[in-house]
Amino acid sequence: MSVALAPRERRGEVSRVGMVIAVAVRKGGAGKTTTVCNLGVAVARRTGEPVLLIDMDPQANLTKHLGVDWRRLEKTVNQVLFGDASADEVIVAMPWGVDLLPAGIDLAAAEKVLLGDPIDPNGRLREVTEPLRERYGYIFIDCPPALGVLTLNGLTAADRVVVPFEANALGAEGVIETLNMIGRVKKHLNPGLRVAGILANRFDGRLGLDREVLEAARERFGSQVFRTVVREAVSLQEAVGHGRPAAHYRSRNPGHRAALDAYDALAEELLTECGRWVDDGQGAER
Ligand SMILES: Nc1ncnc2c1ncn2[C@@H]1O[C@H](COP(=O)(O)OP(=O)(O)OP(=O)(O)O)[C@@H](O)[C@H]1O
Ligand SMILES: [Mg+2]
Repeated sequence: MSVALAPRERRGEVSRVGMVIAVAVRKGGAGKTTTVCNLGVAVARRTGEPVLLIDMDPQANLTKHLGVDWRRLEKTVNQVLFGDASADEVIVAMPWGVDLLPAGIDLAAAEKVLLGDPIDPNGRLREVTEPLRERYGYIFIDCPPALGVLTLNGLTAADRVVVPFEANALGAEGVIETLNMIGRVKKHLNPGLRVAGILANRFDGRLGLDREVLEAARERFGSQVFRTVVREAVSLQEAVGHGRPAAHYRSRNPGHRAALDAYDALAEELLTECGRWVDDGQGAER
């Protein structure tokens, strides 16, 4: 399968107009962290570009997911946001083609401090990511489940947002509020922000309910829903337990290969979208 690449990349030149992609939805457990981790690794593998994953959730699940013990970290994204550490001091190199800007529980306290910033409470992360675009081809931001100031920082820093939802439980709960919020961010904070796609996660095609939920989402959100769905796969949870991305975890589970293929296909969909964006600087609207 081929990926639509920007002309510069086709000519073999290195493109370092890094793209920032937030993963956000106002719903706990929808698959934000799983998406950032596994899509980020898939994009790194496909493009060969350096990829940075940023943990913006005080739960620090992405940090834990990648096997980093946040309790041993002296500094995290929290210090970087407030200029008390440089990103370089805090970024952890990972063996899977991705680097991590980790979070710790102290990020919860950052929310309060950000809210007290009278000048630009939502723009701190953008100040961090802007210079990093020269070094990373893709920067993924894992947002917390609330549409609070940390998520607003993620959306303000981003060019694109991926909105995952559980295809099997309470349907697309949270997606509509999130899309509304994205619309407001576009209007007031970040006019360049666009929805890269809505991702159906934990889909089980054997269940009628899941198929109904997916169909309803496609009817409601049209082509904004990624063609790729990520199915329910126990190995994605096993990989978390081993502190590794799924692509670097061996599992005999029958759904494992399908999950890896799904992240590959999703990476291709996303890169096609990004390729348009890098292509001529005019692909602002789909
Ligand atoms: N496709 C999938 N198949 C099986 N398990 C999954 C799948 N996607 C996510 N999970 C599991 O569901 C749980 C929630 O996923 P994840 O942590 O990615 O959600 P989240 O949206 O980041 O949650 P939070 O809002 O708490 O940050 C995790 O245990 C994860 O391993
Ligand atoms: Mg999470």
